[in-house]
Amino acid sequence: MIKVVTATAKDLPTLQDLDLKTYHYPLSDKGWKYALIDSPCKVGMAQIGTTYVGFALFEQADGALDIHRLGVLSKFRGLGAGKTLLQTANALARDLHSLKLRVIVPSCHCENDKDNVSNWLKGQGFRAKGVKTDFFKMYGDLYDGYLFERGVK
Ligand SMILES: CC(C)(COP(=O)(O)OP(=O)(O)OC[C@H]1O[C@@H](n2cnc3c(N)ncnc32)[C@H](O)[C@@H]1OP(=O)(O)O)[C@@H](O)C(=O)NCCC(=O)NCCS
Repeated sequence: MIKVVTATAKDLPTLQDLDLKTYHYPLSDKGWKYALIDSPCKVGMAQIGTTYVGFALFEQADGALDIHRLGVLSKFRGLGAGKTLLQTANALARDLHSLKLRVIVPSCHCENDKDNVSNWLKGQGFRAKGVKTDFFKMYGDLYDGYLFERGVK
């Protein structure tokens, strides 16, 4: 069974490990301090048994719930952990009276990427809403961000 627990500052080493293993561009120490201490962001960790298999970082803004990060370790993918983290986002959005879930994905993780995350997002009910030019600075370069949104269920 997959469950999602709320992370706190004590979980920082586990979160950084999950982040490094699931994202090519890990969050900075400053970013984690903001997420866990200096903001109303919520961070969830997905657990199977006693193993942490994924995490997600959410923040409410402009009437939407932004999903800043959502990653599942590769060997635990396809088991529903990503979907369970999205359900957590949806429940949080409902509690906060947010109108939609919003996520911005680097263009390089959609086009020419075997794990094309836009397919997964579309499968989970998200719709492409636009392009944010030069939104991500990664690998010493700038990448457009693709904006996806889904209504709160
Ligand atoms: C995207 C990601 C979070 C998916 O996590 P996951 O735990 O494997 O996803 P789930 O097992 O919950 O997927 C559930 C559904 O998506 C489908 N799915 C899984 N991978 C998919 C893919 N690459 N493309 C399309 N559909 C996919 C499953 O078949 C399943 O379908 P169902 O709902 O009809 O049963 C994971 O691949 C990941 O961590 N990627 C790297 C980080 C990243 O890009 N994050 C951005 C997320 S916004």
